[in-house]
Amino acid sequence: MRLNGNFSRLKNSYLFTEVGRRTAAYSSAHPERRIIRLSVGDVTLPLVPAVIHAMRQAVDELSRAETFRGYAPEHGYDFLLDAVRSDYVRKGISLFRDEIFVSDGAKSDCGNLSALFSADSTVLLPDPVYPAYLDVNLMAGRKVLYSRGTEENGFLPAPERGVHADIIYLCSPNNPTGAAYSKEQLGEWVDYAIGQGAVILFDAAYESFVRDEGVARSIYEVEGARTCAIEICSFSKTAGFTGVRCGYTVIPRELEREGVSLNRMWARRQSATYNGTSYVSQRGAEAALSEEGRRQISLSAERYRANAAAIMRCLGGLGVPYTGGRNSPYIWMKCPHGLDSWTFFGELLEQANVVGTPGVGFGEGGEGYFRLSSFGTEADTLEACERLSAYYNGKVR
Ligand code: MLT
Repeated sequence: MRLNGNFSRLKNSYLFTEVGRRTAAYSSAHPERRIIRLSVGDVTLPLVPAVIHAMRQAVDELSRAETFRGYAPEHGYDFLLDAVRSDYVRKGISLFRDEIFVSDGAKSDCGNLSALFSADSTVLLPDPVYPAYLDVNLMAGRKVLYSRGTEENGFLPAPERGVHADIIYLCSPNNPTGAAYSKEQLGEWVDYAIGQGAVILFDAAYESFVRDEGVARSIYEVEGARTCAIEICSFSKTAGFTGVRCGYTVIPRELEREGVSLNRMWARRQSATYNGTSYVSQRGAEAALSEEGRRQISLSAERYRANAAAIMRCLGGLGVPYTGGRNSPYIWMKCPHGLDSWTFFGELLEQANVVGTPGVGFGEGGEGYFRLSSFGTEADTLEACERLSAYYNGKVR
């Protein structure tokens, strides 16, 4: 037996584990201080009534012999697959039912999809980037290249001719920078992937936050994407399912490499290793996509948008450069006085008792930046803004 030596390529702890560890250490040393957490993008508003009603009904069904259900279909119940299809129709995209695979969330799929590709494939990641994409490919022993997001390119790197990649990860609206690609910009990536014979893994977990015309909500809005892209989506941020767990991945029938359908490969992989997302979660997700569910969820989204707007106003008033917040729940700010990300994290934790996420945790390209989440409560967000202002004005405790 030999262990997977590639684990030695990983940092000692995962970004949010490290943020949690440092926050807990400070909190136990200063139990009297009330810490405001705007770090991990975890939702704070409760599930909407339509979802709760559907999930209660699902539990009732499970309580009766006549309506009890055991294993869920491994790729998802038809009622949810059809609800997802209808949701895509609203975006002007038509999918076949067998192109959608229901899962327990985008993070699992982002990791598990790695099984489709050989260990000697080259991966291209934006930098900064959601750290799970990097970790899974390091564990698999793959070579990783980076495409740098900078202030100059608005944290929206474009493909570079001459760089070869087999697997490309894109996330738009982006975690962590909040920047979002237009359809034209995504079109450049699609052309590049087709030219290289590469596959794009497109993480659309934050698509419901898009409000600007011209910003893509799905990569399939771009012509040609069905031949080169897999889309991963989630109910976590849209419907508050971070604890409930439900997401889905789309693999178009046309997506083939080496004469093999990636859709069939994934169907085979899921049937061998996944026993389906719980009935209760899937009924909740179906309700989230119903007309009433969408109406109720849009009210929650408004509240997170108002939080983002408050943070943007605060940073704008302080003259702090930032991106995101408009089509995204994340605000990506520049650290003051040339501080590195972890030093600013420590200062803000200790002096303002506000926790954010150090940009460098998302890659070297994030050094000197810091991410704030708008998923906190309204009261916490407003207080965090006051504390940030006090920090910047040198009036901290
Ligand atoms: C984040 O804070 O980046 C996200 O909540 C992480 C995730 O979605 O897994």
